[in-house]
Amino acid sequence: MKGIILAGGGGTRLRPLTGTLSKQVLPVYDKPMIHYPLSVLMLAGIREILVISSPEHLDLFRRLLGDGSRIGLDITYAEQPEPHGIAQALTIGAGHIGDSQVALILGDNIFHGPGFSSILQGSIRHLDGCVLFGYPVSDPQRYGVGEMDDQGLLLSLEEKPARPRSNLAITGLYLYDNDVVDIAADIKPSARGELEITDVNKVYLEQKRARLIELGRGFAWLDMGTHDSLLQAGQYVQLLGQRQGVRIACIEEIALRMGFIDADALWTLGRELGTSAYGEYLMEVASQAAGRSGLTDGLTAPTSRERADRTWREPLRKGR
Ligand code: G1P
Repeated sequence: MKGIILAGGGGTRLRPLTGTLSKQVLPVYDKPMIHYPLSVLMLAGIREILVISSPEHLDLFRRLLGDGSRIGLDITYAEQPEPHGIAQALTIGAGHIGDSQVALILGDNIFHGPGFSSILQGSIRHLDGCVLFGYPVSDPQRYGVGEMDDQGLLLSLEEKPARPRSNLAITGLYLYDNDVVDIAADIKPSARGELEITDVNKVYLEQKRARLIELGRGFAWLDMGTHDSLLQAGQYVQLLGQRQGVRIACIEEIALRMGFIDADALWTLGRELGTSAYGEYLMEVASQAAGRSGLTDGLTAPTSRERADRTWREPLRKGR
């Protein structure tokens, strides 16, 4: 399966933050935003990834991610000259998709929850048509909204309905079989002049080949369209990281865990990040994976347990 990250759009709701920068490179706590959707594709086992962005921003992503080989990926780039809708990513990416299946993800979506990697890999193994991911929200009228039967078959789909039939928002992650290339090529612009991803999904709905997986309680799906939601996403990542001593969406660690790179390569990546806590974390994960003491060359980073203890448990113990 191939992957596509759509990192386009003007980021107008985040101005002036997006005055000179693309929204999808803005910091979300310890890393640029695009690392989060990239981590999702990696957890799905996808290594050939096309990043699509506007002509003025594409180079930022090239500089940030390169050709991906350092984390065992093959990353290529394509321009979206004008933002004409999410479905345009599938026509721009047709050559990249070739005769494969494809996972399309929006560059500003964070997904985090237990067992997500297995959910993704299981969905891909059984993919016939398309798989969408639904997330219960309190304001469904802001999103595409889906209804499903108890087998997970999609029953209805509406884009930003005034009266939503369910509270399940369709998230910005879409898995498709290869038919999507022809389907996307046939879609006509909507009233707002965009090639709507919902219109692509409706074709699969009519064919009864659209499935909806509900990401339920305990799962986090965050989009980062406003200043508040951007800050909240950063705080979510910070809180979990400090509490558990792990880093969410750490693409270098995922590359190791998925077998895309080895521990030595991870350690080198960590070392290159100098004295940042992120770099220390990579070296520590690499050392643990290698099971060798001394791998860190005298630069021993605190273990995650030590860090968690320092940050949280010490004050708790003292309080007892
Ligand atoms: C788009 C899709 C919508 C989906 C949302 C997820 O909305 O059209 O169906 O629920 O992404 O982030 P937009 O961001 O274009 O308003």
